[in-house]
Amino acid sequence: MACSSSVGVPLPSLARPSDGCVRRAHPSGRGDIAEPGSGYGHPGERPRGGGWQGEDVDQDFAGRVALLTGATRGIGLGIAQELVNRGASVVITARKPNDLEQAVAELDPDGTGRAVSSRGSADDQEHQAAAVALALDRFGRLDHLVNNAAINPQYGALMDADLSAVRKVLDVNVTATLAWTQLAWRAWLRDNGGSVLNVASVGGLRAGSPIGAYNTSKAALIHLTRQLGVELGPTVRINAIAPAVVKTTFARALYEGREDEVAAAYPLKRLGVPTDTAKAGAFLLSDDASWITGETLVVDGGVTLGG
Ligand SMILES: NC(=O)c1ccc[n+]([C@@H]2O[C@H](COP(=O)([O-])OP(=O)(O)OC[C@H]3O[C@@H](n4cnc5c(N)ncnc54)[C@H](OP(=O)(O)O)[C@@H]3O)[C@@H](O)[C@H]2O)c1
Repeated sequence: MACSSSVGVPLPSLARPSDGCVRRAHPSGRGDIAEPGSGYGHPGERPRGGGWQGEDVDQDFAGRVALLTGATRGIGLGIAQELVNRGASVVITARKPNDLEQAVAELDPDGTGRAVSSRGSADDQEHQAAAVALALDRFGRLDHLVNNAAINPQYGALMDADLSAVRKVLDVNVTATLAWTQLAWRAWLRDNGGSVLNVASVGGLRAGSPIGAYNTSKAALIHLTRQLGVELGPTVRINAIAPAVVKTTFARALYEGREDEVAAAYPLKRLGVPTDTAKAGAFLLSDDASWITGETLVVDGGVTLGG
């Protein structure tokens, strides 16, 4: 059974031939690629840079579909753009409709339909189900999930914290991540393979900052990644990235007006940009990381090296 995406791209069949390979058409319609049985296990068999009849782009996500939460800007949009650049179609989510429209236009400037959006808060169960259904309806598959959306409304000592704010942080940052992963697992990943990326933070590795609820949620996310690494194998991998300060709206208060001063503490003497996290995240999602699961990759310009 061949599936068809909204861009008219023939997508891989669910049935696998006896050689264990799925043959996929490149979106350009030029030639097939052969994937190993899980579709995610044997990087040597996939085309790399220049692999598409001389094309100078690595299309290792060609024919694949990713759902990314909180992807209208910053780290999430960066990962979405990297995946699209490498051939994926994407479903992005966020709460603000105008930002979704703008991000879709950025990801798909030619209007081919390879980027679509679903509006809602990451912890809303109806929205979660609708976004997963959208991926399957539009593209016929869901190979990758990126749990990126997070909130940070609590500041100050946890001993003084409003517990409803703490609950909301844990709901959006942790419980919703599990919920999205359950839905993607049941809808596609369990039977077809794929990979998941959680966006954690170096805050989840160290104690003592005034954003204790957020950091606790990120520590939980790092452990959730380990736990699910055990549960989702062997066909599905799940990993996390733990960035330090990346220049986005979310982190602006941490560096605006004093970027050089903040960057001085980083051995690499600069703050992160969304491309840094996008490249690291895409690596963990890709077949290049086919023997890595349950891990958290610190992406921090070296700032945590000193303890
Ligand atoms: N930037 C850093 O320095 C840094 C460092 C470590 C980790 N991180 C992590 O990186 C991730 C992304 O952060 P960022 O810096 O890229 O932030 P950002 O630039 O502010 O982008 C956040 C994105 O998430 C969406 N979003 C926020 N709350 C949401 C919710 N409840 N439901 C659905 N979408 C929501 C936003 O759109 P709407 O507002 O329209 O919903 C936006 O698309 C977060 O998990 C954050 O904890 C960031």
